[in-house]
Amino acid sequence: MNCRHLISDTDLSREEVEGLFALTSQLKEAYTLGKSDISLSGKSLAMIFEKSSMRTRVSLEVAMTQLGGHAIYLTPQDINIGKRESIKDVARVLSRYVDCIAIRTFSHNNVAELARHASVPVINALSDYLHPCQALADLYTIKEKLGTLKGVKIAFVGDANNVARSLALLCATLGVSFNIASPKGYEFPAEFVDDMRQTVKQDASALQFLNPRDVVKNADVIYTDTWISMGQEGEAEVRRLHFKGYQVNKGLVALAKKGVLVMHCLPAHRGEEITDEVIDGPNSIVFDQAENRLHVEKAILKTLLLK
Ligand code: CP
Ligand code: NVA
Repeated sequence: MNCRHLISDTDLSREEVEGLFALTSQLKEAYTLGKSDISLSGKSLAMIFEKSSMRTRVSLEVAMTQLGGHAIYLTPQDINIGKRESIKDVARVLSRYVDCIAIRTFSHNNVAELARHASVPVINALSDYLHPCQALADLYTIKEKLGTLKGVKIAFVGDANNVARSLALLCATLGVSFNIASPKGYEFPAEFVDDMRQTVKQDASALQFLNPRDVVKNADVIYTDTWISMGQEGEAEVRRLHFKGYQVNKGLVALAKKGVLVMHCLPAHRGEEITDEVIDGPNSIVFDQAENRLHVEKAILKTLLLK
């Protein structure tokens, strides 16, 4: 990884992602065997969270603990970034104390602004635009389950949101086919697809469909996420109406290959975008996917902090 920051999935080349996945496997195996690695001893991570989180907050914090370092969780009540103090000043001061800053925020510009003024690596822990740590753990999990990413087809059903954008970008980098079915008005904007083609410089094939049946039929993986992301609560009622036909349920899974993998970044809104029988069923790998957030983030932290 040549990048100092992990703000977007496009910060990583294909070779860097492959290296990160290899390191993840080593770290996961060593952890399973009870071998300790305290290579981040004495290092600190500041974690700025402007939105709720369970997986990202806990996995980053545990990652630092397992690697011998320390993480500091900062809520809006603690630093009130951008209001009590400018993002620029937060970046400059935190850079004097810690070795890395993770931020979960609304506007993606806040992440970019923080990175512009920080002299330590910045990790995007989710913005309204992207969720790169999630996509890395997702593609790692698919590779772990299927043994390869070659020829793999991912079908995303639902909102073309932050999670979908990161997945599409990482799939483009890795040459994985990514197709998405979203209701009209909730697709990727044309500019995103154009940007993706230009930035990733691969045959980025994020094909967009209206009907979920069209994307799942040849898929190896069916992926979904909430219809109502954090910050969109005011649109909840209208979104529930528009996304009604986009539920990943038994009927939809039955249209796919027999062993199709079902993924969800969590938290799930059971009974909305996914049913209990699917998320708790034999095709679901959502909890292995959640576990891998930890192992992949350990690899990200080691790569960024030990450079
Ligand atoms: N998937 C994910 O990022 O979960 P949290 O919002 O709980 O961190
Ligand atoms: N799209 C969701 C992802 C949560 C991990 C959100 O932004 O709320």
